[in-house]
Amino acid sequence: MTDASDALSWSTAAIRALPAYRQPQTFHDFENPGTRPRLLHLNENPYPPSPMAMAAAIEAMHDVNRYPDIGGRKLAQAVAAHYGVDPSLVILGCGSDELIHFTTVIALEAGDEAVVPAPSFPRYALSTKLAAAKPVRARINKNGACDVDATLRSIGNRTKLVVACTPNPPSGGMMDEAALKALIDGVPENVLLLLDEAYAEFGHHAGGPDALKLLRKRKGPWISTRTFSKAYGLAAMRVGYAICGDATVAEALRRCRLQYNVPTPSQAAAVAALADQAHLKASLDKIAVERKRLTEGLVALGLKTWPSTGNFVSVSLNGPAAPMMTALAKEGILVRDWRDPDYLNELRIGVGTAEDTDAVLAALARLLKGAT
Ligand SMILES: Cc1ncc(COP(=O)(O)O)c(C=O)c1O
Repeated sequence: MTDASDALSWSTAAIRALPAYRQPQTFHDFENPGTRPRLLHLNENPYPPSPMAMAAAIEAMHDVNRYPDIGGRKLAQAVAAHYGVDPSLVILGCGSDELIHFTTVIALEAGDEAVVPAPSFPRYALSTKLAAAKPVRARINKNGACDVDATLRSIGNRTKLVVACTPNPPSGGMMDEAALKALIDGVPENVLLLLDEAYAEFGHHAGGPDALKLLRKRKGPWISTRTFSKAYGLAAMRVGYAICGDATVAEALRRCRLQYNVPTPSQAAAVAALADQAHLKASLDKIAVERKRLTEGLVALGLKTWPSTGNFVSVSLNGPAAPMMTALAKEGILVRDWRDPDYLNELRIGVGTAEDTDAVLAALARLLKGAT
């Protein structure tokens, strides 16, 4: 679409102000496995989910003539038991993406502000704009983690929502316990704090702090969003959940969430995946090995890497990352540049299988040699 603002004259100013939609390529764009590139651009899990999750989803197909359980009670109870929280504080979403969106809906009115980490998951700023509110960018720190001082400094009279993400994509940095505590204590009591923990399982596996323990001490409203898409390998099932700080926050999300947002087979798969912690651990172990090998290989190529505890590693190139992304795509490897005006030289590479690591390091070695 060349002139989006004219073509969309019937729509809201927020919609017209957004750039034209560009659909990213996914697994489904490459039907032939023989020509499928290495998909290291969406932070997906390269390994299949627990066989118990697959069996549970298939079994649940028998009941798909009926709408799913609205509250997803079995899953909410399983999540609640896993974390030791009250099931009424667990709200399910069509991925955590949906819950992040509705977090902006419950907190923001036109003219309000949301402090968002930058760069980070684009949904925070996008949904803020859809609410005719303003995203205020708080730059990540030099380790690629959300910067508490920058975040707290960005809070003003119009701030209704503060977002942090740990581990934070695309950088991979994780907040330590002191930083989390300072954030949780520092966000005013009348402001909703959203902590996006989509990569929590990777962070915990790497020895990261238990944010939930700290969040529970917060006086003001808060939400922690998490997902079955990443560590549990259930991205296509679209199951996320919000753990809410109190009943008022859960009630606000219930008032606006989409009623039948998580299909029955997805709910069943997530319950079974949560029960199979051995499978989760095996997946996390394999990904940690490859993250280390990828990082060390990138350093050996003379590249500066960002310290990551996620299932992705970012590098700083000596020049713009976009041409390297294109060159790697020609080699059959999809990765992502950061797409942030402040970080043009950074490239994010998903942690895949051992073969993916070998392929990406070999291709980069060739391409970097060609560039000198
Ligand atoms: C930081 C972060 N939050 C949330 C999501 C949304 O994931 P899902 O909707 O699959 O739960 C993603 C997906 O990449 C992410 O990177």
